[in-house]
Amino acid sequence: MIMSNGERMIFLSSIFILVNAGQGQECTELIKNKEYSCSGRNLTCIPGSLPFSVASLDFSFNFLTSLHKRVFPVMLNLQLLDLTRCYIRQIEKDAFYNVKNLMTLILTGNPITYLAPECLNSLYKLQRLVLVDVRLESLQLQINNLTKLQDLKVGTNCIQSMTLPSFMSTFKDFSLLDLHANNISIIRMDHTAVLREIGRNMTLILSRNPLIHIEPGAFKDVILRELHLLAAFISFNAQKECHKALTGLTVDKLFVGRYRMDEKIKVSVPDYLEGLCSINFNEIYLVQKEWSDSEMHLFRCMVNATKITIKKAYMNSMKHIPFHRLKELYLSDTGLSVVPFISHIPSLEKLVMKSPFPITFTGVSDLPLLQYVDLSGNMLILHECCSILFPRTPNIQYLNLSQNSEITFVNEPFSALDLLEVLDFHHTKLVIVFYFGFFKHLRNLKYLDISYTRVHFNTLTFQDLHNLTVLKMAGNSFSGDKLSYFLQNLTSLEVLDISQCGIEKVSMRSFTGTQKLRHLYLSRNKLMVLDFLTQPELTHLTSVYIDKNSITTIPLDVLQKLPMNLSEFDLSSNSIDCSCSQTDFILWIIQKQNILKQLENIRCKTFSANTDFKAIDFDIDYCVHKKRLTIVLSVICVTFVVVLAILLYKFWFYVQYCFILFSGYRSPGQQECSYDAFVIFSSYDEAWVMNELMENLENGVPPIQLCLHMRDFQAGKSIASNIIDEGIMGSRKIIVVVSQHFIDSSWCRFEFELAQSRFLMERNANIIIIILEDVAERKTKKVFGLHKHLKKNTYLKWSRDPLSNMRFWIRLRKAILQK
Ligand SMILES: *[C@@H]1O[C@H](CO)[C@@H](O)[C@H](O)[C@H]1NC(C)=O
Ligand SMILES: *[C@@H]1O[C@H](CO)[C@@H](O)[C@H](O)[C@H]1NC(C)=O
Ligand SMILES: *[C@@H]1O[C@H](CO)[C@@H](O)[C@H](O)[C@H]1NC(C)=O
Ligand SMILES: *[C@@H]1O[C@H](CO)[C@@H](O)[C@H](O)[C@H]1NC(C)=O
Ligand SMILES: *[C@@H]1O[C@H](CO)[C@@H](O)[C@H](O)[C@H]1NC(C)=O
Ligand SMILES: *[C@@H]1O[C@H](CO)[C@@H](O)[C@H](O)[C@H]1NC(C)=O
Ligand SMILES: *[C@@H]1O[C@H](CO)[C@@H](O)[C@H](O)[C@H]1NC(C)=O
Ligand SMILES: *[C@@H]1O[C@H](CO)[C@@H](O)[C@H](O)[C@H]1NC(C)=O
Ligand SMILES: *[C@@H]1O[C@H](CO)[C@@H](O)[C@H](O)[C@H]1NC(C)=O
Repeated sequence: MIMSNGERMIFLSSIFILVNAGQGQECTELIKNKEYSCSGRNLTCIPGSLPFSVASLDFSFNFLTSLHKRVFPVMLNLQLLDLTRCYIRQIEKDAFYNVKNLMTLILTGNPITYLAPECLNSLYKLQRLVLVDVRLESLQLQINNLTKLQDLKVGTNCIQSMTLPSFMSTFKDFSLLDLHANNISIIRMDHTAVLREIGRNMTLILSRNPLIHIEPGAFKDVILRELHLLAAFISFNAQKECHKALTGLTVDKLFVGRYRMDEKIKVSVPDYLEGLCSINFNEIYLVQKEWSDSEMHLFRCMVNATKITIKKAYMNSMKHIPFHRLKELYLSDTGLSVVPFISHIPSLEKLVMKSPFPITFTGVSDLPLLQYVDLSGNMLILHECCSILFPRTPNIQYLNLSQNSEITFVNEPFSALDLLEVLDFHHTKLVIVFYFGFFKHLRNLKYLDISYTRVHFNTLTFQDLHNLTVLKMAGNSFSGDKLSYFLQNLTSLEVLDISQCGIEKVSMRSFTGTQKLRHLYLSRNKLMVLDFLTQPELTHLTSVYIDKNSITTIPLDVLQKLPMNLSEFDLSSNSIDCSCSQTDFILWIIQKQNILKQLENIRCKTFSANTDFKAIDFDIDYCVHKKRLTIVLSVICVTFVVVLAILLYKFWFYVQYCFILFSGYRSPGQQECSYDAFVIFSSYDEAWVMNELMENLENGVPPIQLCLHMRDFQAGKSIASNIIDEGIMGSRKIIVVVSQHFIDSSWCRFEFELAQSRFLMERNANIIIIILEDVAERKTKKVFGLHKHLKKNTYLKWSRDPLSNMRFWIRLRKAILQK
């Protein structure tokens, strides 16, 4: 192939473009020029198309085998590099030279067999190093340059000793050493020397190691933020002894026990947690999977704790423990069948208990600082509530009894709990014995959730709740009218949820008191109109949810007066009427896409459910065209009618003529002729007709019966019908008296034309023309057919000469009598 230079240039540059385009698709750009993901693309090298400026690169699940200097292009802005499971076996000395500003390096899950001694040292800015599951055998890494290191995660390796390299004691920011799932079985004094020197605010994770022995005092004077010891011991005895050996350790949060998914184990040494008493901790998290026939004193060593979280335990009862610093107690899934009667813990502020099976609650008492009580989701049945269950606990502010079975309230249930700010009963059946004064005293209440509680609102009033900002009462049925009085005093209300309450209409008075309302939830009701949203009390609304109602349209005047700051409006799952009469509303939907929620579910009402379509897909242009077309058509119609009217007016005579023409001969021949001849003449010639024509013909022998309009036409009948019925149709012959006046008279012309058309149809020359006076030939042309008639047929000419007069009458008679 021979190419010119120019062609070659084009050829090469097109290859370049193709290659580049191909490479662009290898990685996904998450943030332009900064964050890229090439995860799982089966790549064998770092794509050259990545910009120099890339800061974060996820290159996990590819094939790299070996890391050396040329693997990475120069990326000096790169801060995070994820090389999880890239089959990396070797990491050479200068491997990270081109990415030396890394702050996070993740090498999880690579079968590394060779790690060049100095290779990590070029990463002197590194803060997080993740070497999980890389076949690491020792913590003696050459990372002396990594003085900014904070997190070192080396879980799931074969490390046998937790001894850190001595230079790490100078790493000021070092705060996390994750050694989970390694092979550490023994910890001796000298293994913790660096730890002791770092000595502050560090998290140490030793979970899932086969610990057998810790040299007593190994952790003496070690201060940790967190210590994780879940499933960290080879046996219960080892656990007990190792816990004991931790004496002198100070730790803020201690995680002990097992993992939740671990199997349940029967234990023969019920005091296996005894050793915890040697550890100085504030907070403890326990997952207990061990159970025993004899009683286990779970809390004995927790007496000095400030926070106890039991995520799982096997307890029969909870004895009174003289906790003196305890602030928070979380008991979930403990095996207790009753909420322990906790009392006289002066420091307790928070009590949370959750149980997967039904429990009972008889109360707690003498907890002066108790503020927060969450007993939700326990299938509780309470026969009386609530003050009576909390004697001498005056500070309760939060009470969550939601998702329980049934709670019965007797008179003034919150009388001693007047600091309550949050009260949650949702999805619990409430049985209220005395409605009056139910929420009395709750002047500080800010949050009230009585959704799905089957409460009867007929008599319930919120009269004292002036501070209430959130009221949720979805899923209870009451009519919209109720709203108009029970919201009146809720002047601080900002959030109101009355979804699924069967509301059909909201009265305009409902919100007169609630002028701060910002969020209104009205989903799943039966609303058809939304005009209440325009009232001035609701101007602060920012979100309105009216999905799943029966809204078909919102009139333009309502749309224009919707609250100004509305930024969330959920109209979805209503059957919108998408017809051209609603273009204003649909246009509004299209324009307000930014505030409308679940746009794809705002669908148009159609006759069958599976053909419905999104309201924003409605073709407004179609309506515009249709409207335009209608206008154009109407204009055309109107114009046509007007023109027609003008024409009709102007040519009325001809119209009538045509009408008669066609209607007059509907039944020709059926009529008996009652006259011998019909005379068409101008009224100016009446004298001649009366004196001469009538005289001579009617009084002659045989007499000829003439039809003369002034004499024979029936009164009350229109002239036109008379002409047809009496004259033309009722006479055998037509006599036309042509004169100057005849020519000028439109009636005469009309009669003549009618006559012609009759005989034209009957093909019978029965028109007899009498020329009374000479008329210019030019003028005869004015009368349709006359000129032709005169040329083709003989006619009679009247003259005053008596001789020719005589002949005239003879001929005329003959013509008339001729069949
Ligand atoms: C990567 O390769 C494996 C087999 O080697 C294949 O199953 C997988 O679909 C490939 N993935 C991609 C994104 O090409
Ligand atoms: C250690 O970091 C210094 C800069 O702090 C650098 O000059 C030196 O080359 C680094 N050592 C290695 C082995 O990269
Ligand atoms: C764990 O360490 C013991 C010695 O303490 C050794 O015998 C065993 O092979 C190691 N296990 C693994 C999986 O490396
Ligand atoms: C301990 O570490 C946490 C987070 O790592 C930090 O917020 C806290 O200030 C540190 N405390 C001390 C005393 O260094
Ligand atoms: C609780 O703290 C006191 C000192 O305040 C100490 O004497 C006692 O041994 C501690 N108890 C436990 C179980 O840690
Ligand atoms: C009450 O508890 C339930 C269930 O744990 C939870 O979903 C709800 O958010 C809690 N209520 C409040 C007000 O925190
Ligand atoms: C609302 O609560 C505040 C304290 O949060 C309280 O000072 C005020 O008296 C309460 N208002 C009413 C009307 O009770
Ligand atoms: C509103 O409060 C006033 C005074 O506290 C009370 O008289 C009235 O009954 C209350 N109205 C409602 C509907 O609770
Ligand atoms: C709407 O929002 C603006 C700014 O967030 C605020 O200044 C204004 O008062 C709000 N208007 C109403 C009616 O709430």
